[in-house]
Amino acid sequence: MPKMNVPGDESVGIDDLSVYVPGLFLPLAGEFSTNRGIDPGKLVKGIGIERMAVPDAHEDAASMAAMSLLDLMRRTNLHPQDIGKIYVGTESAPDEAKALGTYVIGMLEQIYGKGSFQECSTVEFKAACIGTTFALESLSYWVAAEEEGKVGIVIASDVAKYPLASAGEYTQGAGSIALLVKKNPRLLALEQIYGSFTRDENDFFRPMGCTTAIVNGKHSNQCYLDAMRGAFDSYAAKSRRLEVITPEKGECVTDFVDHLLFHIPYPRMVEYASAAILRHDWKESRRSGEIERELGREPAAQDYDDIEKYRAAEADYARRFAKSEQFLQAYRAKVKDTATLSRQIGNIYTGSIYLGLASLLELQKIHAKERVCFGAYGSGCSALFFSAIAQPQAESVPLRGLLQRLEERKQISLQDYELLHEGKKKESVLPPKGEFALMGIDHQGYRHYEYVE
Ligand code: COA
Repeated sequence: MPKMNVPGDESVGIDDLSVYVPGLFLPLAGEFSTNRGIDPGKLVKGIGIERMAVPDAHEDAASMAAMSLLDLMRRTNLHPQDIGKIYVGTESAPDEAKALGTYVIGMLEQIYGKGSFQECSTVEFKAACIGTTFALESLSYWVAAEEEGKVGIVIASDVAKYPLASAGEYTQGAGSIALLVKKNPRLLALEQIYGSFTRDENDFFRPMGCTTAIVNGKHSNQCYLDAMRGAFDSYAAKSRRLEVITPEKGECVTDFVDHLLFHIPYPRMVEYASAAILRHDWKESRRSGEIERELGREPAAQDYDDIEKYRAAEADYARRFAKSEQFLQAYRAKVKDTATLSRQIGNIYTGSIYLGLASLLELQKIHAKERVCFGAYGSGCSALFFSAIAQPQAESVPLRGLLQRLEERKQISLQDYELLHEGKKKESVLPPKGEFALMGIDHQGYRHYEYVE
């Protein structure tokens, strides 16, 4: 049993999770790829997304958050008075000041009764795609100190949106995930070791008043990889110092990790991220010799007098590393399955790493005592690398039927997608049924939601 860095007898972590995904999707290969003049192979293989989830006219980040929380409460038989705090990670909140969680509470009180959540506090975490992870980290400390037996909820909810016909367009998506955070969780106990990295960057941002993000795409990939390496080093040093992971000579930290989850802006990115982290981690281990035998020596900056030539050699080596048998074996065993749901949904920004967790759970890939590591990234930029241990009850938590639910969605035309994207479609494609719906925005900008039976 791995040693855990949890004070006292009680662990804290993720007891269960729920996922909400809109009922509409747009396939990337077909009308979309033809209209945009993009080879479908690039979208499905090069980017890794087959279908993008598209929010209907009555959906936004708040209604989706309310849906994932309602499902979580029903699944776990949770009552409003059991919940002490709801922390929300989002970068597409509909209001600049009012906490998204207050809209969520307003919606949930339509089901559970007015005032039923009045002792529950809620706050929003904004840090691009890492907001939910910072929320989870903070909430886990509150749960550990909580003495009245209350639990905490972390919700991720986002509409990932870029301008039409831009390079970001095919990495859109939408959805929400609600995590139940409590003592003695059934799924994952956090080891409470957080390796962090932060730097001021302009890779992705959304100035006030803009409905879509400004993104410097290639730069954002590089920032992601740099930040992830920094956060991983910080995690590795802390976990060694705390004697939670103690590699012997020839071993490395990832030898002690069973599943590696990363932020998933698009599935190929987890391949790039895992290649960068494993290559970095294996350098000091016995694997470095095996890799060198397969690929030859890594390019070293001092061997090049021209920086561009070094960069080209480095890019070529990175490509060959990502195709090496050593890497592919580790990727298939520890990483590949985490992107299963994202291929059918696209990017859900701050929740996407937990969509990776949902993928592993739905595929029943997580087994008791395994170590699951998370590498979260948020543009701007920050990364957090942390770990959790799968609990004995993890395999008995009921599944969610997510893969089946995704098959039951409605495919929409390119025209409907573009009208929804531009806010020009006022009627819902699928009229709301058994869900929270945005009914209107009044003259002051306040949003009105209703549960539609
Ligand atoms: N068949 C198969 N693969 C193909 C292909 C084809 N016909 N054409 C291109 N590809 C591959 C490319 O070779 C590349 O893979 P490689 O890295 O292994 O070489 C991959 O598809 C991506 O192509 P590329 O041209 O590099 O992508 P892009 O210019 O379309 O940009 C993003 C991709 C992610 C940068 C862009 O979509 C974006 O800005 N997204 C929003 C921001 C984001 O998600 N950032 C991520 C970090 S947070």
